[in-house]
Amino acid sequence: MITGIGEGIAKLFALLGARVVVTGRNASRIQSVAQDVQQLSPQRLKPLQVVADLKVDADIERLVKTTIDTYDRI
Ligand SMILES: *[C@@H]1O[C@H](CO)[C@@H](O)[C@H](O)[C@H]1NC(C)=O
Repeated sequence: MITGIGEGIAKLFALLGARVVVTGRNASRIQSVAQDVQQLSPQRLKPLQVVADLKVDADIERLVKTTIDTYDRI
């Protein structure tokens, strides 16, 4: 998830103890959101970070595949 609404949702899920994937086009933004997400996580879960452009089909496929490889599901 990335900026704005996505970032808020990512942080909410993190607070609830969910495993979160932080994605977006900007790696430095992903890193800063990922740090916040990890701080909010009760278990200090480090989110999966994937640089991807959701306008690009191949990137979406890679995002889904990386998520499933890491968490076994979405
Ligand atoms: C990425 O995000 C950082 C921090 O918000 C910003 O300073 C930088 O300009 C962004 N880079 C691009 C390529 O948008």
